[in-house]
Amino acid sequence: MAEDFKSVVLIATPGEQADRLGETLRELPSVSLEEHKATLTEMNGQAVKLAGAHDLVVFRTDHARERDLAAIRALRAQADPAAVILAITPADTSLAEAGELTRAGVDDVLPDTLTRDELETRLTHWAKSARATSIEVSETAQSLGKLISVAQARGGIGATTLAANLADQIARPSRRRKAPGNRVVLVDLDLQFGGVGSFLDLEPNEALFQLASNGGKIDGTWLDAALVEKTPGLFVLTAPARPMPLDALTRDQVDRLMGALRRRFDYVVVDLPRALVEWLAPVLKQSDRMLLVTDTAVPSIHQARRLIDSFTEDNLGLSINVVINHEKKPMIRGRHHTEASKVLERTFDSWIPHDPKPAREAVDRGVPLSSIAARAPMTRAIRALAQQLVADLDRSDQVAATDTKYH
Ligand SMILES: Nc1ncnc2c1ncn2[C@@H]1O[C@H](COP(=O)(O)OP(=O)(O)OP(=O)(O)O)[C@@H](O)[C@H]1O
Ligand SMILES: [Mg+2]
Repeated sequence: MAEDFKSVVLIATPGEQADRLGETLRELPSVSLEEHKATLTEMNGQAVKLAGAHDLVVFRTDHARERDLAAIRALRAQADPAAVILAITPADTSLAEAGELTRAGVDDVLPDTLTRDELETRLTHWAKSARATSIEVSETAQSLGKLISVAQARGGIGATTLAANLADQIARPSRRRKAPGNRVVLVDLDLQFGGVGSFLDLEPNEALFQLASNGGKIDGTWLDAALVEKTPGLFVLTAPARPMPLDALTRDQVDRLMGALRRRFDYVVVDLPRALVEWLAPVLKQSDRMLLVTDTAVPSIHQARRLIDSFTEDNLGLSINVVINHEKKPMIRGRHHTEASKVLERTFDSWIPHDPKPAREAVDRGVPLSSIAARAPMTRAIRALAQQLVADLDRSDQVAATDTKYH
């Protein structure tokens, strides 16, 4: 790989200027380009990972809008300190606006009128400075399992159903795709109304109680007593039989629990409580992805909006996917879908159809959907979501690994 080769991620909404910029970057022989047609805000947490996987993050902003500034601050707070962030702005950007961008954490503000050669010179300059610091960082990086947290926009919407069946799907080997299964742990952190145990016909477990009373000591003995293997590769940590007061656990205990599980498993799937408790912060902080289960009724969408705001306050870089339950992916989206999508500032990619028969039968028998209705529309939808998530999360790992190798 040439000494001055740069990997660049470009984040820009489609438009004449952005297209021209993409074209210029694509033409540069020393640049490998990944393009995202979105604003920095819309990248919804992915920007942190992209920043870790590329030499340079280049994004286009029209004028230093508050939203962009907030997104830059978030990116700066979460990203590797070696990440280089460059803003491309219209030529009439004022010095005051450029100053605001720099204060928010941008390394350089470049006018979109730069010629191809000027642009290449600036990119080379910044790519070199990124490389100088990235080696130390990658050496300390440790391989940890991925954490997927599942939240609900209203009670009874199907969050536990999704958490349990998603964990099951991620754990199962796929003969068709020749993919081996993963080691997965499903954790019920809904301490008061926890439903994972009854969904999978498992006994409640006192381990979380003990964790609260033993000062948070997590060792092999505690883990062995806490975890039950439901099916090959799928381990479960159920909630205690007696509802626990939500403040029984501390931030520090939950932080260590998540860390210990991520060291032992490839994937940790967490069923979150409905209440916004203090110890959610470490779960959110360690989450690689959150799935927020909702329907498209107006009250649910408004609650989902409030939750997204609250969760991203704790983890500004958190990537949240909205999952619409009880609704088949529509061929043509209705007006209420468009409105809801606008309120949540997200496209809806995951839909789980209303499928009461297998849902009921799985609960009655205490088994995952895959064991009793592998071909049911609901099972297929959750399988597709699991495959997509695993692919996304793996890809971000691979990109990071390749990146490390070449440095
Ligand atoms: N797509 C679906 N089609 C039909 N029934 C479903 C679907 N998803 C979930 N259900 C059913 O809805 C009920 C509630 O689901 P679940 O317990 O997963 O919701 P929850 O959001 O975890 O609720 P809680 O607020 O009690 O934690 C269950 O009986 C489940 O089988
Ligand atoms: Mg539940």
